[in-house]
Amino acid sequence: MAIKPIEFADGVCRMIDQRLLPAEQVWREYSDYRGVAEAIVTMVVRGAPAIGVAAAFGAALAAREIDAADYQSFAERFAACCDELAATRPTAVNLFWALERMRRVAAENCTLPLAQLRTRLLDEALEIAAADEEINRAMGGHGQQLLPRRASVLTHCNAGALATGGYGTALGVIRAAVEAGKQIAVYADETRPFWQGARLTAWELQQDDIPVTVICDNMAGYLMQQGKIDAVIVGADRIAANGDVANKIGTYSVAVLARQHDIPFYVAAPLSTIDISLASGREIPIEERSAAEITHCGGRQLVPDGVAVYNPSFDVTPAHLVSAIITESGVVSADYESGLRRLCV
Ligand code: MRU
Repeated sequence: MAIKPIEFADGVCRMIDQRLLPAEQVWREYSDYRGVAEAIVTMVVRGAPAIGVAAAFGAALAAREIDAADYQSFAERFAACCDELAATRPTAVNLFWALERMRRVAAENCTLPLAQLRTRLLDEALEIAAADEEINRAMGGHGQQLLPRRASVLTHCNAGALATGGYGTALGVIRAAVEAGKQIAVYADETRPFWQGARLTAWELQQDDIPVTVICDNMAGYLMQQGKIDAVIVGADRIAANGDVANKIGTYSVAVLARQHDIPFYVAAPLSTIDISLASGREIPIEERSAAEITHCGGRQLVPDGVAVYNPSFDVTPAHLVSAIITESGVVSADYESGLRRLCV
């Protein structure tokens, strides 16, 4: 089954509500950009490339909503809508990358009649969505070569079809390895506090009949010590020019454990996740999410009232702990600074 978390048809953007998986498969419909922005904030849609795709559709919807007499007034309001979409989540750079692309297309086509410009912007969003899946398949082709014929792979969070335009980044590499005839078994960290591993990674691998075992986040070290993990593959929300990788909170701990146990730690991400403008991961903004994600689960209180909680949603894994970065244009290992710059030109 090919999972696609976002579709656009008949003027409506549809997204599977990832907050409800795996128990319920509910599709939400959005016909205005504010709805899309809200969907990103509230995690109906999540995962760096998927957020970018959603924002592009949001911008296309905004273009349709703006009732302007000329390009100048259209452009001012379009910029404000894109700013609103950009303010939804701070860490995944794909959001800003997709919106920048939409802004550029608007500017480059400023002489078109507004009706044609709106169509051009929707075409661009559709192109961003379609290309994302192709990019992931190319990434999978490169990345699967790093895996042995039989391997147990640990992943953290959900970097699968649900987090992208389809196929997935880290899970795309796993899918490509399975399609190449390799025997891959996956361990999925549950990924507290939002449970992307337990709920989403486990669900989508199960759909594809790829063996998956969910473990609590604090079990990874024990499994590595037992020799149960051959490789770690994760996705990324933003990669700095020096190869430092921001990804879901807990990724750094897994990378440290992998190094301690001499296990390769791979990052799979499209070039749109590389932020060459940032020298190092220290400059990556880290989103802090609501305390309620930690204090409550499924409506049940887990932490006493009045106790402080801290909920950083991402961490940064320094480049020296990363064995290789897998992109659609090839694999970079060591000397990330020049390798990533070469791919990004
Ligand atoms: O908070 P989320 O669920 O949006 O975080 C997602 C992740 O950290 C993913 O690992 C990352 O976006 C890569 S998705 C291909």
